[in-house]
Amino acid sequence: MTDTLTLTRPDDWHVHLRDGDALQAVVPHTAAQFARAIVMPNLRPPVTTAVQAVAYRERILAAVPQGVSFTPLMTLYLTDNLPADEILRAKDVGVVALKLYPAGATTNSDAGVTDVRKTYATLEAMQRAGMPLLVHGEVTAPEIDLFDREAVFIDTQLIPLRKDFPELKIVFEHITTREAAQYVAEADRFTGATITAHHLLYNRNAIFTGGIRPHYYCLPVLKREVHRLALVQAATSGSDRFFLGTDSAPHPTHLKEHASSCAGCYTALSAMELYAQAFDAAGAQDKLEGFASFFGADFYGLPRNTGTVNLRRENLTLPESVAFGDATLKPLCAGETLPWRMV
Ligand code: DOR
Ligand code: ZN
Repeated sequence: MTDTLTLTRPDDWHVHLRDGDALQAVVPHTAAQFARAIVMPNLRPPVTTAVQAVAYRERILAAVPQGVSFTPLMTLYLTDNLPADEILRAKDVGVVALKLYPAGATTNSDAGVTDVRKTYATLEAMQRAGMPLLVHGEVTAPEIDLFDREAVFIDTQLIPLRKDFPELKIVFEHITTREAAQYVAEADRFTGATITAHHLLYNRNAIFTGGIRPHYYCLPVLKREVHRLALVQAATSGSDRFFLGTDSAPHPTHLKEHASSCAGCYTALSAMELYAQAFDAAGAQDKLEGFASFFGADFYGLPRNTGTVNLRRENLTLPESVAFGDATLKPLCAGETLPWRMV
């Protein structure tokens, strides 16, 4: 047990940066923590072409503070009609992956895929090009219990998809269940998974402690303690199938603290502090660097970062809120004191 951790600069393999004023507010937080981040394409309208991805990347880069080195890695939003020939154009401009949102699964997913079979020609092109598919792994059928949607997705969608595309690189994003951790641990090298800090630190009780706490509401929703423990086990196992993805998803305070609260936890402000807390609590400090700094880059076939960051066991009190355009943004654990800080 040490009180200082020195890690190779980490990357965030799943983040939401939004656009406009919101983008200006959040990019500095992610850029202060990570060397690179995979940026989700669920804007309104979604990022569906190589040309749009390049323009979005320019807007992100313009929001990076002077003197900070940060590389946004771009994705396209898979729809029922994204043409297969867009894949090579995307690859040419440096797009690193496509994101599959089942239609209706989450924030800005109405343009998502209604039936994965409709995307098969595009998936063929992706498999050929070595372009990874990033999956929001939840079914959307209203008759399926919200807490079962990930496990049902594995059986009804992911297993058949994998059979049809044995060499398509798939990242099962923000996994939340023992079933998903087990599926990925037993899969071959074409499958990886991201795990958020909040799913390592909290179970579903957090959403209901002393009243409804909307800042703990995200999708896929927090699950039971057995699932949290399975995720901690996976993240700290040293397996290179599991890597860091914050799924930091900013929504203005007034839409989080709302009768139908938006899904998303804003963790970018103190992401590495939260992960350090989770790994330290599991007695697995030595496993953080692989998870945060190596395994994602290796999966994507990108070079590992150079340079280091330091985390110290030292109190860090988070602000109650930060500016977010004309609104405010509450980070997860707003006003609370965390046990680790990045120095
Ligand atoms: O909680 C979530 N928020 N889950 C998602 O899948 C999307 C994200 C967002 O964009 O707000
Ligand atoms: Zn996400």
